[in-house]
Amino acid sequence: MTAPGTGLDRPSFSLVDHDGTPVTEQTYRGHWTLVFFGFTHCKVVCPRALGKLSAVLDELGETAGELRPLYITVDPDRDTPQALRDFLRAFPRFTGLTGSADAVERVKGEFRVFARRRDDPDDPDGYSVPHTAITYLISPEGKYAHHFPDALTAAEITAGIRAFVVGGRGESFRKPR
Ligand code: NI
Repeated sequence: MTAPGTGLDRPSFSLVDHDGTPVTEQTYRGHWTLVFFGFTHCKVVCPRALGKLSAVLDELGETAGELRPLYITVDPDRDTPQALRDFLRAFPRFTGLTGSADAVERVKGEFRVFARRRDDPDDPDGYSVPHTAITYLISPEGKYAHHFPDALTAAEITAGIRAFVVGGRGESFRKPR
């Protein structure tokens, strides 16, 4: 089933994690994945979102163990595995993913994520990459389950994730009888 408003179904990707290990969507089969896109030079949106999602994962307690939180860069020129690893020390629940420019364009397309480089005199390199700030929940079978807009509170996201991971909403719930 395609998610209304997102066009997602079974997003796939071929990237490397922040330890330099190649990963695909198959790597995470058997676990729910929580996916957020951003870039490590992001001054406001990413730190705020990753902080909120870290609080959500704390609040989920044991249930968080069923989730694999992923942070996928939209700025592969700067966000090497090392840059992601350094940035994510502040958000240690997350695994950072990067890749070639083509691989990053492909995963953005899979998730219908918008992000485009633009001039930014406040950035040391002269650019930033404004991006979609939606958190995606993907089922252990690799199917889109739900998405959480940036405006939601930690409590709302926590409740939403529980409804799927503990409450049985999602793929099996939607299977035709
Ligand atoms: Ni950001």
